[in-house]
Amino acid sequence: MITPIHIFDTTLRDGEQVPGCKLNSTQKVEIAHALEALGVDIIEAGFPVSSPGDFDSVRQVARAVRHATVCGLSRAVEQDIKVAAEALRDAVRPRIHTGIGVSEMHIKYKLRTTPEAVIERAVAAVKYAKSFVEDVEFYAEDAGRADNEFLARVLEAAIKAGATVLNIPDTTGYCLPEQYGAKIRYLAENVRGIEKAILSTHCHNDLGLATANSIAGAVHGARQIECTINGIGERAGNTSLEEVVMVLRQHAELGFSTGINTRLLNPVSHLVSDRMGVPVQPNKAIVGANAFAHSSGIHQDGVIKKRETYEIIDPLEVGVDHSSIILTARSGRAALAYRYKCLGFDLTKNELDEVYVSFLEVADRKKEVGDDDLQFIISGIRAIAESHKIAVA
Ligand code: KIV
Ligand code: ZN
Repeated sequence: MITPIHIFDTTLRDGEQVPGCKLNSTQKVEIAHALEALGVDIIEAGFPVSSPGDFDSVRQVARAVRHATVCGLSRAVEQDIKVAAEALRDAVRPRIHTGIGVSEMHIKYKLRTTPEAVIERAVAAVKYAKSFVEDVEFYAEDAGRADNEFLARVLEAAIKAGATVLNIPDTTGYCLPEQYGAKIRYLAENVRGIEKAILSTHCHNDLGLATANSIAGAVHGARQIECTINGIGERAGNTSLEEVVMVLRQHAELGFSTGINTRLLNPVSHLVSDRMGVPVQPNKAIVGANAFAHSSGIHQDGVIKKRETYEIIDPLEVGVDHSSIILTARSGRAALAYRYKCLGFDLTKNELDEVYVSFLEVADRKKEVGDDDLQFIISGIRAIAESHKIAVA
């Protein structure tokens, strides 16, 4: 049996919390259209009460999106919820995302309140949100570091108040995959009424574990994964959408599916990177410039013989035209001959030997040898050979 996982994209909310990445409403609508085409199930469009600009963005996205659910964030504060509801008024499928901190750290030092008061505020917030929309997601902030028994009590109360989705954020990116997976399993097994709601992962990447934690969450009972394009977000970022989607696709044995059109992953990654002005690190999984580039001679030889020797994903599947063979001082004759063939030159064995000597000289001077360099080398060698022939004649 294949279990569908809902993809909740928060590029426009948590992703936009990257310093200097503020998008205007037009850019948010453009990205929302791209996310909808990509096939995400839920688009978190912003935090409407945070500024008039964000309110307008959420309103514009709510009007523009036709198929995906559009979600607006709020704290467990009446005014936030009211403003979120107003911004979402024209959405076909509106969702209010409200919540409160549940770890001792948040309750004692941030909220300066008591656990019982947190439960009361959670219930009041969900009920109030429910008076505007049917679909209410409750987030238990810093659930990653919270006591499981208390967390279960909060969630039980949120379900009774009408929450349809329960978000279990590892807000500080602290958990190990086993711990996060065990937390989700504990909740799936111990929260009364859990069958009425969906458990959601929301993992931050402070220890580089966001993708692993999200997958562990799904394996142990979560049915929604919250993520962002390119993994952008607060501090070290959020779970990267392209990574979780491709993990679930590559590991069919896990038994999950998503509605994502993976061929759009690279184009959407470029769009978000460009509009937010945040470059993607070259070695980023799936969408980095080097994700399908091979530079060592041993790897190049393998890939030229059979791509799968060093690639587990067909680049076309994620919207990349082809794998690249990057010519460097570590490349061998096989890669050089291959690249020349791509440029329309079928080299003889002698020519290849000669070209290879010049190629290594250039490669030692430059980090990467380009097609121009190759053209230059072969024309030089062929011109000399031609002049020899004339001299002999
Ligand atoms: O990381 C977090 O806890 C959040 C919540 C506001 C959902 O982003
Ligand atoms: Zn977050």
